[in-house]
Amino acid sequence: MSYIVAPSLLAADFSHLAKDVKLFDESEAQWLHLDVMDGSFVPNISFGPMVINSIRSITDKIFDVHLMIDRPEQYIETFQEAGANVISFHLEACNHVHKCIYQIKESGCKAGVALNPHSSVHGMTDVLEDLDLVVLMSVNPGFGGQKFIYNTLSKIKALDKVRQERNLDFKIEIDGGVGLQNAESILQAGADVLVAGSSVYKSKDPKETITRLLSFKKNTLEA
Ligand code: DX5
Ligand code: ZN
Repeated sequence: MSYIVAPSLLAADFSHLAKDVKLFDESEAQWLHLDVMDGSFVPNISFGPMVINSIRSITDKIFDVHLMIDRPEQYIETFQEAGANVISFHLEACNHVHKCIYQIKESGCKAGVALNPHSSVHGMTDVLEDLDLVVLMSVNPGFGGQKFIYNTLSKIKALDKVRQERNLDFKIEIDGGVGLQNAESILQAGADVLVAGSSVYKSKDPKETITRLLSFKKNTLEA
């Protein structure tokens, strides 16, 4: 099985959003990662459903919406209607994780749970069966352009091991500080989706960077 590269629009040029979405559409990247921040769960405010809806017509590819907001359960349908295909929310931001996962699935989207760097994968052991995606944050959420937290590699390995032992098929997405210099070790640890913001959009040739990010051999044990 091959892996997915998801450029993060947070690193794009917001004065030319349509151009940067089109660039993604014409590239080999499969998912567009959309970071929604509320200024409460994280100390930054980005964009919401109106912006997502306004770029929906530019591409038919997957919109991977990462909700860094408090009370995510209040906004699931709004983001689905705006054009999300995958919706992830933070374990740390929700009191009823199982319920919220099914709310996402009932909306017709794939469901993911995201974990901050300090949160253990054991905190979500009992909902792994229900998930399509686990997002392991490899930076503290809120900003692009931060340094990859190295300990994430052992978290990926631990989660991948559980996935194999329990014969589950959720994808493992790594978000933050991912680029050409560490993509291979992240993939070898067991990741399936690489979110890449600055390393793509701040590079000289973003399409070429995406192609290079997709050129690593993945050490796959899963089907
Ligand atoms: C951080 C966001 C990330 C961010 C990644 O809160 O969730 O998706 O855009 O940006 P880079 O790849 O620049 O670390
Ligand atoms: Zn993100």
